[in-house]
Order: sequence, then C-alpha cells, then structure tokens
Amino acid sequence: MIAPLVLGIETSCDETGAGLVRGHELLADAVASSVAEHARFGGVVPEVASRAHLEAMVPAVQRALATAGARLADIDAIAVTAGPGLAGALLVGVCAAKAYGLALGKPVYGVNHLAAHVAVDQLEHGPLPAPVIALLVSGGHSSLLLVERLTTGVVALGATVDDAAGEAYDKVARVLGLPFPGGPPIDAAARTGDPGAVSFPRAKYRDGTLDFSFSGLKTAVARWIEAREAAGLPVPVADVAASFQEAVADVLTRKAVDACRSHGVDHLVIGGGVAANSRLRALAAQRCGAAGIRLRVPRPGLCTDNGAMVAALGAELAADGAAPSGPAFRADSGMPVTSIVAG
Ligand code: KG4
Ligand code: ZN
Repeated sequence: MIAPLVLGIETSCDETGAGLVRGHELLADAVASSVAEHARFGGVVPEVASRAHLEAMVPAVQRALATAGARLADIDAIAVTAGPGLAGALLVGVCAAKAYGLALGKPVYGVNHLAAHVAVDQLEHGPLPAPVIALLVSGGHSSLLLVERLTTGVVALGATVDDAAGEAYDKVARVLGLPFPGGPPIDAAARTGDPGAVSFPRAKYRDGTLDFSFSGLKTAVARWIEAREAAGLPVPVADVAASFQEAVADVLTRKAVDACRSHGVDHLVIGGGVAANSRLRALAAQRCGAAGIRLRVPRPGLCTDNGAMVAALGAELAADGAAPSGPAFRADSGMPVTSIVAG
C-alpha cells in the first residue's frame, strides 16, 4: 500500500515552511524566511513574523506542490506546528492548515514543533531506532529526551534551566557585533579562532543531572569583552567565538553521552537549529564514537525550522493510525515537549 502524502506547515517563529512527505521520503521542502526583516532589531519581532507568514503561506504551499509535481487534491493529510512558538505566528499556520483540511476534507494533525525536530532525521537516515536519546537544541529549547516511539510520547530527561543554547548563540553574537541569528556567524568566525583561547565556564558540567544552563556562560562572555574594552584592548572575535562555542558543545555532548549511558541507550539523535553547528556535530561524532554510541544528525538544512519536519511527524502519525486533532484544536505557544499532538 502506498503511504499517505502529508503536507507539513511550519510557522512557529520566523520561517514559513511547507513540506511534502510520503512515508520517510522527502518530496518537497519550501521555506521562506522573514529573518532579514528582524535583523535590525537583533531578534524576532512577533508581529512582523506573523505578517510575513500571512504573505508567504500560500506561495510556500504552491512551491512545495510544484516541486513534488503534486496537486492539492493529492494530499492525504495535513500536519501543522501547534506549538511551542510565537502565538500569533503559530495561529497563521494553524488557520491555514484548518482551511486546507476543511477544503480538501482531509485530517489535520496539530503537532509539537520539538518532536518534529526529532522526526525529521528519518527523512535522511530512515526509521529511528527504539529507544533513542534525542538532544534537542534550538533557539527556544534545549532538552534531552528518551524516545521509545515518537508518536506515543517522549520522556523529558533534562532541559535548560535558563537560556536555550540557540538563545546563548544569538546573545553572544550581539555582544560580539555579529548579525542575528547568531549561530551561523559564530560558527563561521570560530573556524579561524582558538577554542582554548578563553576558558569560559561550563555550568552544570558535572552536576549529575541532565539539565543545562547557558545564562552564566553568556554573561561571562559579555564580562570578558567588557574588561577587554575597558583595558583598551581589541576583542579577538574569532577566539571568543571559538571558545564560547567549545563551552556549549562540550556541555551538550557530555550530557548527551551521559544520558545514553545512564539509560542504557546506544543511539543518539540531535535536532533543532543548533544541531547545524559544525563544532557540535564534530564533537558529538568524536564522543559518541569513543562511547560506542551511534550518532544521527540530519543535514544542516533540515536542522533549522522547515515544513518537511512537520510533515515527517505527520506522516508517522498517519502511518500509526493516530487520531487527528479535533476541529477546535488551538495553537499553544507553551505546548510541553511531552505533548505530541494537540487535542
Ligand atoms: O530550530 P530553529 O531553527 O528555531 C527554533 O525552533 O528556535 O533554531 C534557531 C536557532 C537560532 O538560535 C540560531 O542561532 C541557531 O538555531 N543556529 C545555530 C546554527 N544555525 C542556527 N547555532 C549554532 N550554529 C549554527 N550553525
Ligand atoms: Zn525549531
């Protein structure tokens, strides 16, 4: 039997994504970003993002259909990010998904953005092994999850107690005078820097929990730069970027390996925008290799927000015969990581 064709819609932050997936096959991944409109504010402006989603939504779906050589009528099910994310931005995607669902007479799944970041890896590397530990690192979240079966729930093992990893990248980029979002420019600057130049703190490195903390690290970088400037010395941007990046990758990979060991799991998957980071990928590969853990990380383009990841989770829910969301389901900006489908 041919697997259902699933349209995935993503509008939780500043990317308008429309993806088409059949089973684990990626057929189209159309993304329009409003990032350039937010850059001068140093962060995403919710109202600007919502308006950009409104304009980009239908063209993104049309582009995805054209790429896949499919028509609207070919779609068997629709999945949309119901949360977490910016309330107004989520609303645009949820309303669009409901409208397509109603017009086409097809089921709609309101899904969790974080679970979708994990599901997307299957489009590149096939079905996820069970169980698997997932390290989820994005602009708004940093979590370690134990995943037995993504469609029936995940167990939260640890999370950041303050800033998310991506948030730390964005804030450190700002103090270094690098553009928003900060992850890519720090990643690029770090390539020519010395990761051992400054020994930044590794909070919660050996505290025995699977929680993270990045706010002290961000402050330590800011203080270091201030002291340097006060002394009339130039700020070595590449060295600071590399040293900061090393501290983040060090803690994330250490805790991810700890999570695998303490739960007797020998597979790790990393997802979310920060999973695009070159040092995190390299250090994770090195440490997993040494610990006998099989590592899976999707290609960078699938790590940052997109519609294909939402379609990937929707396709899995449809394949499992999961009940779609009711017609009255809502966008939930605070949707917990353990809730996979909105009611
Ligand atoms: O998953 P995502 O696209 O959106 C959210 O769900 O938040 O993640 C965005 C975050 C931003 O903080 C961005 O700076 C970070 O991912 N990011 C990176 C890289 N590319 C994106 N962080 C480090 N290195 C990168 N190459
Ligand atoms: Zn995301």
